[in-house]
Amino acid sequence: MKRQAANKSALLVSSKDLSPISVALTGKTLAELRRAAADCKACDLWKTGTQTVFGEGASKARIMFVGEQPGDQEDRAGQPFVGPAGKILHKAMEEAGIDDTEVYLTNVVKHFKWSPAERGKRRIHKKPRYSEIHACRPWLDAELRVVQPQVLVCLGATAAQSLLGRDFSVSRQRGQLIKSPLAPAVTATVHPSSILRAPDGESRRAQMRALVDDLKKVAQFATKRAA
Ligand code: URA
Repeated sequence: MKRQAANKSALLVSSKDLSPISVALTGKTLAELRRAAADCKACDLWKTGTQTVFGEGASKARIMFVGEQPGDQEDRAGQPFVGPAGKILHKAMEEAGIDDTEVYLTNVVKHFKWSPAERGKRRIHKKPRYSEIHACRPWLDAELRVVQPQVLVCLGATAAQSLLGRDFSVSRQRGQLIKSPLAPAVTATVHPSSILRAPDGESRRAQMRALVDDLKKVAQFATKRAA
């Protein structure tokens, strides 16, 4: 399978450029990291989020999925991908033959960023800023050091551009397996929430098929690496 080289502008992890916080987090277990992240105040999102939503899943998962940030339901539950987008992701994993007990799910930002709807009580998702993604990065790096996945799957542009470089285009480069210091292969596909926004049933089904096809490549690579 053809693999591309990582884009140099991505925020890559190398032991030389570990920040002091990353050094402090080195050697911790996922449970210890989760407890420490619960008190994170590295950016202001802790003020409006209900809680830190740390990653969850198998500590030695071969596949790690990384989304943008928890949504409304994840913020209330304290768990990633338990809302509508998570349901799409789990369905796509099942169709691609990926056992969801063997993956690790996380986000580049671990607090829900939102603003109140003009009318009613809804909390509207807001895209995180670069500074918020950067402030949260030591947690993702620490998760990567513990889990050491064979494949890191970026869901959507926010995750893809923070891990594969600002010029990365999900629409043009989705499904490519890219060699990176982060994992033997890093790849990006659409965020499952984009499927929820499909204009009709036919395009929803087509987008779902394309997501499943991307995940089949991920499953194939992870299986090959395990053999
Ligand atoms: N969207 C994300 O990017 N992450 C979640 O955990 C839920 C929705």
